[in-house]
Amino acid sequence: MSMKCPPVSMKVPAMLHGADYSPEQWLKYPEILREDLRLMKLAGCNVMSVGIFSWVSFEPEEGVFTFEWMDSLLDSFVENGIYAFLATPSASRPAWMSEKYPEVLRVESNRVRNLHGHRHNHCYTSPIYREKTALLNSKLAERYSQHPAVIGWHISNEFGGECHCDYCQSAFKEWLKVKYDNSLEKLNHAWWAAFWSHTYTSWEQIESPAPHGETQVHGLNLDWRRFVSDQTIDFCQHEIDSVRSYNPELPITTNMHMVDSIDYRKLAKILDVISWDVYPEWHYTEEDDDVRLAAWTAMHHDLFRTLKQKPFLLMESTPSLTNWQSVSKLKRPGMHKLSSIQAVAHGSDSVQYFQWRKSRGSSEKFHGAVVDHNGHEGTRVFQDVAEVGKTLAGLSELVGTSTPAQTAIIYDWDNRWAIKDAQGIRNSGLRYEETVLQHYRALWEQGISVDVIGSEDDLSAYKLIIAPMLYLISEENGQRIEQYVEQGGTLLATYWSGIVGETDLCHLGGFPGPLRKTLGIWAEETEGLHSRDLNGVVLQAGNALELSGDYDAHEIAELIHLEGAEALGVYRSDFYAGRPALTVNKLGEGEAYHLATRVKDPAFYVALYTAIANKAGISRSLDSDLPAGVTAQLRTDGENDYIFVQNFSGSVQAIQLDGQEYTDMESGAFVPEVLNLTVNGLSILKRKR
Ligand code: GLA
Ligand code: ZN
Repeated sequence: MSMKCPPVSMKVPAMLHGADYSPEQWLKYPEILREDLRLMKLAGCNVMSVGIFSWVSFEPEEGVFTFEWMDSLLDSFVENGIYAFLATPSASRPAWMSEKYPEVLRVESNRVRNLHGHRHNHCYTSPIYREKTALLNSKLAERYSQHPAVIGWHISNEFGGECHCDYCQSAFKEWLKVKYDNSLEKLNHAWWAAFWSHTYTSWEQIESPAPHGETQVHGLNLDWRRFVSDQTIDFCQHEIDSVRSYNPELPITTNMHMVDSIDYRKLAKILDVISWDVYPEWHYTEEDDDVRLAAWTAMHHDLFRTLKQKPFLLMESTPSLTNWQSVSKLKRPGMHKLSSIQAVAHGSDSVQYFQWRKSRGSSEKFHGAVVDHNGHEGTRVFQDVAEVGKTLAGLSELVGTSTPAQTAIIYDWDNRWAIKDAQGIRNSGLRYEETVLQHYRALWEQGISVDVIGSEDDLSAYKLIIAPMLYLISEENGQRIEQYVEQGGTLLATYWSGIVGETDLCHLGGFPGPLRKTLGIWAEETEGLHSRDLNGVVLQAGNALELSGDYDAHEIAELIHLEGAEALGVYRSDFYAGRPALTVNKLGEGEAYHLATRVKDPAFYVALYTAIANKAGISRSLDSDLPAGVTAQLRTDGENDYIFVQNFSGSVQAIQLDGQEYTDMESGAFVPEVLNLTVNGLSILKRKR
């Protein structure tokens, strides 16, 4: 069975390699523009993202349009075999617009309107901003959406942020009226507004959260987050509507990054292709070692791939350093290729950079680029980029291949917003994202493919679902999880799960609320621990997972009662001693594990998931022992498997392969029994499926 989908554009049935390109900054330097074309080919680049911040170059005065520079750029791309993602330039606007129409400027939560400046600072509701955006977008679409160089739309740039202007306030109220069936009574109940006499008696009394106003009504805060996300998506849809009809075949993306303010699962629904930008701070600090960072990056690649269950694009990354890190370190030898191909390993069909050429002035003049101020190819960075170009050119058969996962981890925006807003149980650091990563990392280290899903997603395809700190879970989704387990699925949930429902009201009748029956436990009390407090999980001899050991636990602990579940491990100390800390409950055909406290040591999670994955019959990408910091990720077309063995450990490694026959995708040679990896090295292996 073929497990391949078509490339982003039939015009380029190859891996994409390229960068954000801003020729409008260099129109007075024609020799540089000519040189860029030569260098792009030399670097093995086949795509550029253009027009991203070019509004003033397209419309220098209101209603006066200048497209000639883009005409000649795109024509020169065609002559040189380079393609383009054409951006809509809404992410930053000309000064004339802010001057004439102040309503386009964003209002902060303190109700102060910003002055003109920066970028990503427009109101998503302003009728004028929407009108001006649609007008320019439609002109671009009319002129370029059939252009042979153009392979897709790059809508705006990294949508994010929020606006509190009067337009946005009214839109918020309308959004609430729809959600609560025009009933203030429903809204007041959903927000538990009788608390501190916050009951609303007219829609006009409702305001977005403000530092000098309301910040304590969790239901309001959560609905505001959802509204901001919906309104941003609505703006993106507005942009899409202004270009789509000119060429319905042209795929549409918008470059995401890891912002908090947008529910990307919802945004994904209106896009054809997912793309995202990532800037891991390699070699950053001693605490933030490259292995943790590699796992973090891998998890996010998986998240973006899962959004559409098909290959995504790495739209931006830096070829060397960034200009916004506290300390801008260079990528050590090998790291550029390793981190670029890491994206491909997790399902990207591109490696793209910010930026092609360093700008001569202004904010990002010291941000890494393929071409430095020196202007030539004789640099380490350029050579690193060219090497990636060469590797990607040899991976065309991987375009569109899939990454089948039998394991999923739940990580969703509603939960993320709610859990961080909840006052208590550990205001000094609840560490939700870190916890999700802690679980993910153990699977990543073993080369187990993982999808990153939301609690509303279909669960039926997975053998194992992990729900770390699933604080917000609706009754309905709780029931879906219950059915999933009943029908034979394996679940692992942790402390601080099943606490509140959709509008942030606590589940009554005992935690973990709608997961209580599934997990077969009652969590009577949950507490935050000081950094100096230490407890532990002692795994009981002969338990169902055959796990043993004594592991430190800290930060959060839950006192649970068994209600059908059996204990696999107990607390080590304090008045918790001997009480269940790790449990399993059998329900229908499936099993549900519960971890009641935060175990500190990564080795615990590796041991736990090795045992659970074995029991659940989950396969690994490579059936070899992988040293710590080495991972293997798999893509497949249904006939061939491609395994990316990546060494983030910081030392040379030798891996005993599993006895199957492998060829090396770069050299075409047979791979010996022992695979040697250099520091920051990787190998792309191919085997028959
Ligand atoms: C973001 C933006 C780019 C650039 C980079 C710098 O990802 O989209 O325009 O500013 O950051 O790292
Ligand atoms: Zn606004």
